[in-house]
Amino acid sequence: MDNYKDLIFDKSFVNGKWQHVGDSKIEIKNPVDLSVIVSVYDEGRDLINQAIDAAYTAFPLWKKKSAKERSVVLKRWFQLIHEYKEEIAIIMTLESGKPISESRGEVDYGAAYIEWFAEEAKRNYGDSIPGFTADKRIITIKEPIGVVGAITPWNFPLAMITRKIAPALAVGCTVVVRPSEETPLTALAISHLANMAGVPPGVINTVVGSNASEMGKELCESRKVSKISFTGSTRVGQILMEQCAPTLKKMSLELGGNAPFIVFDDADVMLAVKGVIAGKFRFGGQTCVCVNRILVQEGIYDVFVRELLEAVQKLQLGNGMDESVSVGPLINRKAIERMKNLLIDAERKGAYIATGGKAVEPQFFQPTVILNATPDMIFAKDEIFGPLAPVFKFKTEEEAIVMANDTIYGLASYFYTNDLNRSWRVRDQLEYGIVGINEGLISSEVVPFGGVKYSGQGREGSKYGLDSYVDIKYVCIGNV
Ligand code: SIN
Repeated sequence: MDNYKDLIFDKSFVNGKWQHVGDSKIEIKNPVDLSVIVSVYDEGRDLINQAIDAAYTAFPLWKKKSAKERSVVLKRWFQLIHEYKEEIAIIMTLESGKPISESRGEVDYGAAYIEWFAEEAKRNYGDSIPGFTADKRIITIKEPIGVVGAITPWNFPLAMITRKIAPALAVGCTVVVRPSEETPLTALAISHLANMAGVPPGVINTVVGSNASEMGKELCESRKVSKISFTGSTRVGQILMEQCAPTLKKMSLELGGNAPFIVFDDADVMLAVKGVIAGKFRFGGQTCVCVNRILVQEGIYDVFVRELLEAVQKLQLGNGMDESVSVGPLINRKAIERMKNLLIDAERKGAYIATGGKAVEPQFFQPTVILNATPDMIFAKDEIFGPLAPVFKFKTEEEAIVMANDTIYGLASYFYTNDLNRSWRVRDQLEYGIVGINEGLISSEVVPFGGVKYSGQGREGSKYGLDSYVDIKYVCIGNV
């Protein structure tokens, strides 16, 4: 049980070594009781720049290896993560509050990106193009883009890192990871396992620090960094984009969402309720693809709401280390205050809290269902990122589509119907990068994950996941 302690580190991992520059530290707290798990050295500009230099120096050597050599190292890393699955899951639950079964799921999910891209490394094919005159032969080759800065959030302390860096490493890039200071321990543990797997010094550098804006700026402004991959809020994505403009850096941005979940009259009610529970309460609602607005057609509204309330009331709130718990604490006090403010606003505008609605000390919030939700309430426009489930009523399919698209975001969307024609019609009209039909869980390494509108740009995972880490070189052989 205590073996996980061997995978807890208090320094950043740069150029194959545990390093620290300053002496100040960040207390990493368990959100369940706010106890300190460990204090980690708090780095900033200096170590980020050392990490960039290390990645820049390692790049030509890593790039030169064959795809198969890189693939072998990645597979070893994948296997080690599986070997230490329980230890990593415990660390993740301690630092994030995620229920332990979900943490185990995330270890599998996150590791799967490494396995997938270890395979894809060998399929980074170019083209042969018919020449534009008879004496010309044309080919394209895909070359690694260079040093990648990966800036990752606290809600998936492992999967958001591997989803970015596995494809980067697979094609020959090197990386500097800046994990969230809320959950750096999982990032450091997997960096250690990468080292054990034989990832050469400088290829993966993980720097922990509390000054997110300073570290982000260094990565964005450095001419040695060729690409930034960021998962987080739309506002921060916009700032990073501005900072990347002078060096014309390539970017992948996976930003905020405001997922609609539409239940049509012809839907299977129990399936839809199961979908909401999975899609809304996964990690207590703290994911970018979590259901934000439940839109229910009037004919099925009463029965759906009755079943939803019954299912939500069965959810167990508590310490994620307890196997029976399905919803853990929120990540910080700010999140609790946000839930409270959303409810004050909604109640003032006529909403009714049908279950839940209360904060529980020190940092929990009850799974909550809100009825009579209307488009003027703040959560109709803003990402909730917590366990509030607002239910809106609609009459027609057209109205549902207008409501669903009435947001600046376009990441995930869901709808439930048993009408085949409707399923095609609605799918075509939803302005989202991801559509779940009769399904509330849509994440996997085999699919292209990403959004449209203010939800960002680029796709992570799947056969498309390598694209954002390569440049295409066109070679023209003339006078053949
Ligand atoms: C996210 O919340 O950013 C990612 C969710 C997922 O991978 O399922």
